[in-house]
Amino acid sequence: MSANALYTDLSSYYDLMCVDIDYQAQSNCIRRLHQIFGNNGKSHLDLGCGTGPHVRHFIDYGYQSSGLDLNKPMLDIAQVRCPEASFSVQNMSNFTVAEPLDLITCFLYSIHYNDGIENFKACMASVHNALKPGGVFCFNVVDKDEINNELFVRHTTNQQQDAFTFRSGWYYSGEGNRQALKLSIEKTSAGNTQVWNDEHPMVAFSFKELIEMVEPNFEVHLFEHDYDKLLPWDNVSGNALVICVKAQDTLPKSDG
Ligand SMILES: C[S@@+](CC[C@H](N)C(=O)[O-])C[C@H]1O[C@@H](n2cnc3c(N)ncnc32)[C@H](O)[C@@H]1O
Repeated sequence: MSANALYTDLSSYYDLMCVDIDYQAQSNCIRRLHQIFGNNGKSHLDLGCGTGPHVRHFIDYGYQSSGLDLNKPMLDIAQVRCPEASFSVQNMSNFTVAEPLDLITCFLYSIHYNDGIENFKACMASVHNALKPGGVFCFNVVDKDEINNELFVRHTTNQQQDAFTFRSGWYYSGEGNRQALKLSIEKTSAGNTQVWNDEHPMVAFSFKELIEMVEPNFEVHLFEHDYDKLLPWDNVSGNALVICVKAQDTLPKSDG
């Protein structure tokens, strides 16, 4: 089984792992931010959309919403959840769209799936190319210097006769621009326990490095990682919501 099993062979367990996530609050918060910073347009793409929970909410808000993801099993579930939307198997580090968009989102720290700084920069260039002037890109991030390797989120739930325990946590060695997301899934059925361990390589940056990379091409705003209140980032928290606005008069970027 791959080191990404949760998004491939075990994709049917993904929504179970995320059952405590308030997708509506997240989507509504980004909708409010888009109302503040955006251009009133309603075309939307979600990067690393997974099983499509945010796409569902954006469609219900009246957006023409679509999603992309690297893993087809996740998109198969998304398509059932959102029959109106179009989904494509693409890598967010290098994606294209048919028509420029008003809003691009990337939730649940999935922007870190750009594996390395060069891929992150390529992703930002793809986003820039894919947005209309005045278009907005929203994502959430963790500052590598604020990661506590000891912290894990643990969540248990039951499905029919099976008991599940999910754990997830960041790991950063303290050097360089790579971090890992460590995930484990434990399934107990009729006294038998199976355990899967995933380790996902991801890009790591400090917020200072992030702003330096993004600011030349976007107007950048950081908010506290709180989907219920819109508060400017306090310059201390290790998690943040990032809003990038493409300038109204920007010419399309060429590749490279
Ligand atoms: C943590 S899940 C988030 C899914 C969804 N956004 C949510 O909030 O539930 C990360 C998703 O990113 C996808 N992914 C990982 N690497 C990717 C890449 N390079 N390009 C596009 N999608 C990627 C995975 O397949 C997975 O569906």
